[in-house]
Amino acid sequence: MSNKMWGGRFASGPDAIMEAINASIDFDRRLHTQDIAGSKAHAAMLAEVGILSAEDAAAIADGLDAIAAEIESGAFTFSKALEDIHMNVESRLAELIGPAAGRLHTARSRNDQVATDFRLYVRDALDRLDVALATLQEALASKALQHFDAVMPGFTHLQAAQPVTFGHHLLAYVEMLARDRGRMADARRRLNECPLGAAALAGTSFPIDRFATAAALGFDRPMANSLDAVSDRDFVLEALAALSIMAVHLSRFAEEVIIWSSAQFGFVKLSDAWTTGSSIMPQKRNPDAAELVRAKPGRIFGALIGLLTVMKGLPLAYSKDMQEDKEPFFDALDAAELMVAAMTGMVRDMEPVRERMRCAAGAGYSTATDIADWLVRALGLPFREAHHITGRIVALASETGRELDELTLDELRAIEPRITADVFGVLGVENSVKSRTSFGGTAPENVRAQAEAWLQRLRG
Ligand code: ARG
Repeated sequence: MSNKMWGGRFASGPDAIMEAINASIDFDRRLHTQDIAGSKAHAAMLAEVGILSAEDAAAIADGLDAIAAEIESGAFTFSKALEDIHMNVESRLAELIGPAAGRLHTARSRNDQVATDFRLYVRDALDRLDVALATLQEALASKALQHFDAVMPGFTHLQAAQPVTFGHHLLAYVEMLARDRGRMADARRRLNECPLGAAALAGTSFPIDRFATAAALGFDRPMANSLDAVSDRDFVLEALAALSIMAVHLSRFAEEVIIWSSAQFGFVKLSDAWTTGSSIMPQKRNPDAAELVRAKPGRIFGALIGLLTVMKGLPLAYSKDMQEDKEPFFDALDAAELMVAAMTGMVRDMEPVRERMRCAAGAGYSTATDIADWLVRALGLPFREAHHITGRIVALASETGRELDELTLDELRAIEPRITADVFGVLGVENSVKSRTSFGGTAPENVRAQAEAWLQRLRG
């Protein structure tokens, strides 16, 4: 049997494989809420401008509400023969209200319909992610406030570099996530124009009011060019690019959590809720959730690259290629939402082991820069010379197997005679972090103020 929605010129139905490659209902059913909202706005506008009678418009609206309820309750039967969500809904509408259903598609095509549905869907997704990311930021900022002064090693090259505080480290991610939210907000602002009424590609001869449907669906305005409206998917690409960068951030944090929770580091304890045991090694507590957060970006980058590849070189306007925009986005979105939720749970439960972190912060001559800075401040030496002298002090400590604060004043003076006992004041890790008071630096009072400011902003 040929398709009842477009089968007029077809004598027979599609090959079974054709149906398998062509039908999108298995995945685009996720657009049902947006599809019904778009159709209701379209029908109301058609009635408003006199294309549809008030009775037909009311029957259509009621029928669409009934379908929404059927889909919500699981009573709706999706049909592959009807290809996609648009035709599944419209066909059910005809069953429910009769021939008036056929008037809904006046001045509309599935091309502007799907572009509208998907913009609405991506917009909702970005709004949900924004809330989820704010929640993660709040978890990070409150943990940072709790541990604003917990000294830990700061790393470069994964080698202990200079002491920082745990709170400072967590707040670094709060900043990154703020930029991620900013990128998503930008993408949302650009996507918020309505394709509906562009029809197949050229617009329509009916006197439709595109400004009315755009406003009814919460868009800022209708898209200005009908060809552009049905043929671009840059809004999906932008969202995926923003998701990808966010995924990079979360995967770096996940990697740190994995390292920190290892027995060798022992900087943090993860809760039972976010770890798993081993079926053979009874002592194990594996950071599986963090590992999966580290791995999920593969899907998100894959979605971005996949859709870029689908879109490149496509001539205007609509081609069926573009049906391949949805699955990767859905998959990337599911991954992103899980990543954010899992990270939020892990952060809330995460307990830093302050003593281990403090100990590690002092190892590896991490206050060497503080000696060099002291030589500059107290003796007026140029930094390069101070760096060289400090290098000799570190070499002595290293050769004799001691930490910097275990050297004697005489030993230090043998290297640089003008050194006084005051230098010992800068060797401890607490003093080191306390001294980093420059704007954005790790001084605990700085960190406390930043954490408080973030919490106020996030809760405000
Ligand atoms: N399922 C299609 C998609 O997702 C809807 C648009 C179909 N348009 C068409 N001219 N065949 O892209």
